[in-house]
Order: sequence, then C-alpha cells, then structure tokens
Amino acid sequence: MQLNILVTGGAGYIGSVVTAELLKAGHRVTVFDNLSHGHENAVPEQARLVVGDLAQREKLNELLAASRFDAVMHFAAFIEAGESMVAPERFFRNNTANTLNLLQAMLEHGVKKLVFSSTAALYGDPKRVPIEEDDALDPTNAYGESKLLVERMLSWFHRIHVLRYASLRYFNAAGATLERGEAHHPETHLIPLVLQAAAGDRESISIFGNDYPTDDGTCVRDYIHIFDLAAAHILALEALQERDRLIYNLGNGNGYSVREVIEVARTVTQRPIKVVEAARRAGDPAVLVASSEKIKRELGWIPRYPRLKEIIGSAWHWKQKNPQGYAAAKNLQASND
Ligand code: UFG
Repeated sequence: MQLNILVTGGAGYIGSVVTAELLKAGHRVTVFDNLSHGHENAVPEQARLVVGDLAQREKLNELLAASRFDAVMHFAAFIEAGESMVAPERFFRNNTANTLNLLQAMLEHGVKKLVFSSTAALYGDPKRVPIEEDDALDPTNAYGESKLLVERMLSWFHRIHVLRYASLRYFNAAGATLERGEAHHPETHLIPLVLQAAAGDRESISIFGNDYPTDDGTCVRDYIHIFDLAAAHILALEALQERDRLIYNLGNGNGYSVREVIEVARTVTQRPIKVVEAARRAGDPAVLVASSEKIKRELGWIPRYPRLKEIIGSAWHWKQKNPQGYAAAKNLQASND
C-alpha cells in the first residue's frame, strides 16, 4: 500500500537515508526541514521539500491541512550530546517544545501515526549491558532528557488521543549508503572525525577521556549502519498499520571503544591516524551497548552490515567520493543557476 509520509528533518543524515528508502518502497514523501543542519542536496529528487521550522506552528498547520498524511517520521532535532551540556535550553526548545507543536498539528489534522527518532542517550549510565528497552531511563545529558520528555508525551498522546507510535532508540548511527553519508557542520561525531584525520583534513583525532571504567579506558559504543537503521524505520511504519505502540533499541549488540574504532579505521583506510589524549566530554556515559532482540523478534529486523569494518568502510567510500560532503554539489548547482 502506498502511504503519504511527512518526514521532518529529511535533509539530515538519517532522515535523508530513510526518505530514500521510503521512496524505494513506493511511498510518497514530503520533507519538512529548516536546512539549519540538513543539506538540500541530500533530499532525494522524488521527494517534495518544504523548507520550514517546527517552531512555525502556522506553517506546519497549513502543510498538514493541505496534504493528507498517513504518518509522520520525525527526525528534526539537535543531536549533539556535548552541546546539550552547554546550552540545554536550545534542546528543550527545539527537541521537546517543537515536537509538541508537531504532535498538536497532527492531532488537529487527524494524523494518527508517528515514527520517532529516539536515542540510547535515554538510558544514561546503564546498570547492565546489553541494554533492554524496559531498563531504567536516566539520561546523563540534556539531549537525552529532551528526547525522554518526548517519549513521555507520546505515551500520553497514545493513551488519550489514540496516537499510534514507534519510538526507535538509536545507538550510534554511522556509515553511508552509496548516495548519502554523514556531513554535520560542525562535525562532532567520532567516525567522520577519525576519517577526516585519515584523509589529512585534520591533524589528529582527540580521545575524550582515557580513564573510563572500560578495558582500555575509553568510551564504548554500539555502532549501527545507517542502512540498517533506515530498514528498521520501514518495518516500524508497516507494523504501525496493525500495532499501536512500539519501542525498540537499534544497535548491533557489539561495543567498540574509541581506541578500537580508530584502530579499525587505520585498517580500513590504510592511513596513519594521529591520536591526542584529551579530557572527558561532559555528559558521556562510559558504555552504551544495545540489545536489539526485541525488534528482531517482533518485526524480523536483520542487520545487513553489522560489522564495524563494513560500517567504517562505507563511510570511507562515501567520503572519498564526496570529499567536501554535500558542499561540492551545492556549489555546482549554484554555478548552474
Ligand atoms: N569521541 C572522541 N573524540 C571525538 C569525538 C567523539 O573521543 O572527537 C568519543 C565521545 O566522547 C564518545 C564516542 O567517541 O565517547 C562517540 O561519540 P559521538 O559524538 O560519535 O557519539 P555519541 O555517543 O556522543 O552520540 C551519538 C549521537 C547521539 C546519540 C548517541 C547514542 O550523536 O545522538 O550516539 O549512543 F544519542
């Protein structure tokens, strides 16, 4: 069945890849993005792009009044955990309050299904790993809290307004498809920064903290390929036709330390990568590793690229093809106009 989907944040890293997969699956997509961090060139051509901000309630209402959306996929948000410990107000405004704008507009216009970009940051420092969905939620950074508040709103909207929703708690999204990759400005994520060091775009990579209670003292994360993440969204959307409340972790169940990531990147790129030991970054939990058994069991999700080598390899491939990220294509377009 063809669905008409609104994708907020569809010009961003994860949103644009999911948009491409939705289109491949035969759905119609409208992307709503303020382009503050996203890239116009990342939006697939067959999608309609509406440039707008979730703070603009009128614009949002007009859009929902004019198009009969079957469901919303909501990616638009600030994502940098470190930044959230400097300016939490920006996260509560953009991630929490603006999501309420979206939920209210959906309510007013009878859109009853939502797939929400949630995060492993909800768990804070986990009591056990791998983390399961009903483990304690206790964020160590304001970013995680801003998303936890949304999950709580969703639960009330479900109870009171019969909103159907899937909350997908991503662990560390990484890697690239052939067409789309990670290009944040400024970049703060480990893998793209490590690859910048490998490519000679930057001197070195800083390791934020080497005294964590882990085997090598650096933080451990669970990296998941962007394609596998996107596939889970399509499954969740389909499942919402039958089911009403889905909460799933999305990771591979394997933890890699910052040092291990750098080592794998050295192998993949065959380049030297200089390391600088630096202070801890505020708000970083020591270990985040997912159990994704629930989505495997319930929706039959099977990750296609679970190995870190493949994940980093895909990111390196995309970077070599697009050394300036999306900027090069944009300049080209500008000179054609
Ligand atoms: N790190 C470094 N040096 C860097 C950048 C990062 O040592 O230059 C470390 C971080 O301290 C952390 C690890 O590498 O320990 C991964 O950091 P990222 O910034 O790549 O990712 P985070 O784990 O902080 O956050 C990401 C997403 C969040 C999401 C979280 C869930 O950005 O949106 O994963 O695990 F919530």
